[in-house]
Amino acid sequence: MNILVTGGAGYIGSIVVEELLAQGEEVVVFDNLCYGHRAAVPPQAAFVEGDLSDRAAVRAVFDSYPIEAVMHFASYTLVGESMAHPFRYLGDNVTNGLNLLREAVAHGVRRFILSSTANLFGTPERIPIGEKERIVPGSPYGESKYILERILHWLDRIYDFRYAALRYFNAAGASPTGERGEDHNPETHLIPLVLQVALGQRDKITIFGDDYPTRDGTCVRDYIHVSDLAQAHILALRALDAGSRTYNLGNGQGFTVREVIETCRAVTGHPIPAEVGPRRPGDPAVLIAGSEKIRRELGWRPRYPDLRTIVEHAWEWHRTHPHGYGDRRTPKA
Ligand code: UFG
Repeated sequence: MNILVTGGAGYIGSIVVEELLAQGEEVVVFDNLCYGHRAAVPPQAAFVEGDLSDRAAVRAVFDSYPIEAVMHFASYTLVGESMAHPFRYLGDNVTNGLNLLREAVAHGVRRFILSSTANLFGTPERIPIGEKERIVPGSPYGESKYILERILHWLDRIYDFRYAALRYFNAAGASPTGERGEDHNPETHLIPLVLQVALGQRDKITIFGDDYPTRDGTCVRDYIHVSDLAQAHILALRALDAGSRTYNLGNGQGFTVREVIETCRAVTGHPIPAEVGPRRPGDPAVLIAGSEKIRRELGWRPRYPDLRTIVEHAWEWHRTHPHGYGDRRTPKA
């Protein structure tokens, strides 16, 4: 199948591209390289540098390649940033997605996978969080993904447009090939930040609050290996013709921030100094996925469910790529 992957130069997108190619699919990556890295795109994939806000550029991709399905990763993705720059999310994330969808529909493409997020559930009432949990987005970021999910719902009704919305919990780890991993600038995610301490690039890690109602007072998250996420995308794509679907994606097991730091100490052999700081606004205490639906319907089974393996793969990437892809740019203000 010929698959257009937006954001295919980013962390999750590039590892999905790697898996798609390994399974014999043909891939066109469309990425503006604002956050993505050219070097993250496997050489077997076609690459188009472009921005989803440029409708003519999006149209040109569909005109130039026989696209049969789209995987949409290109997006602003930071919960905290979305509270400071809501229009980037409620505006750009939505209109960019619409440009893509308009051109997909106009070109007869009827298969679409959306990267969605656990942030749709805000502070959930029940743990683990199933697909039927009440949707109360925790931020403009989560809201922007929910708006796209709703748009997809209507495209399905009107155009038989088949989609899967995959609501990720905390994506982590690196490609088991060791070639691709996390390289954000600025980095905000827990595991890469902790590993930067082990690399000597930071003095310490700050724990954002230790007064949550959890077993050690720090937040609990469900870390899912990026390669298991990639497998879920491929299974969802293959099942699309049987109908649209929405899944929560995590391992169903939560770890506290302190447990993550302890695991990083064990894997790296570095003491990793940590200090407790104030809570980060908007962080819910506990997020754990109920992923029974995708297990039952698609037979998805995570290959790397344990946190130690996730951290080992992340460490292997950071240790061998201490400056990521080596193309640091100044972040957008
Ligand atoms: N944390 C720290 N110190 C840090 C960084 C993070 O204590 O320096 C804590 C956070 O407070 C949180 C946990 O580590 O409790 C994980 O934080 P991340 O920033 O790694 O991830 P988030 O859970 O905030 O967000 C991630 C994705 C979002 C997605 C969300 C869904 O980045 O896009 O998961 O749950 F919406």
